[in-house]
Amino acid sequence: MTLLTWDHACTVGVRAMDDQHGILMDATNELRLALVRGCGREKLCELLDRLIEYTRIHFCSEEQLMEKAGYAGLAEHRAKHRKMLADLMQTAHRLQYGGGGELRALLCELHNSYLQHIETSDQPYGPCLNARGIC
Ligand SMILES: [Fe+2]
Ligand SMILES: [Fe+2]
Repeated sequence: MTLLTWDHACTVGVRAMDDQHGILMDATNELRLALVRGCGREKLCELLDRLIEYTRIHFCSEEQLMEKAGYAGLAEHRAKHRKMLADLMQTAHRLQYGGGGELRALLCELHNSYLQHIETSDQPYGPCLNARGIC
């Protein structure tokens, strides 16, 4: 199982958002490591709940900055955040009540959705925010 690693390809160019993405990746890695170490469902659920909370806080900060900068893609971006949070809640439910064999696949999905969101949805707002002095 590979861990999410931080590199320049993931940078959006806005310091606070890059820091928060780093925290989200750390939280995701912690969850994956817990799975590899054989931690029980209760521990995994607790870590996933924490990741969901961080994600909620991050999405809120990101939307506030996009709003402040008058970013044209805000509505679409907000809808993607809502969908991602709904998916996370569903993952939490499956983690709590699903079969054990499903966990690994669920965490791989999480890994991919975070990376994909940063690369395809977050990186495009960087230049707009930078142009408004948000760096
Ligand atoms: Fe985002
Ligand atoms: Fe983000």
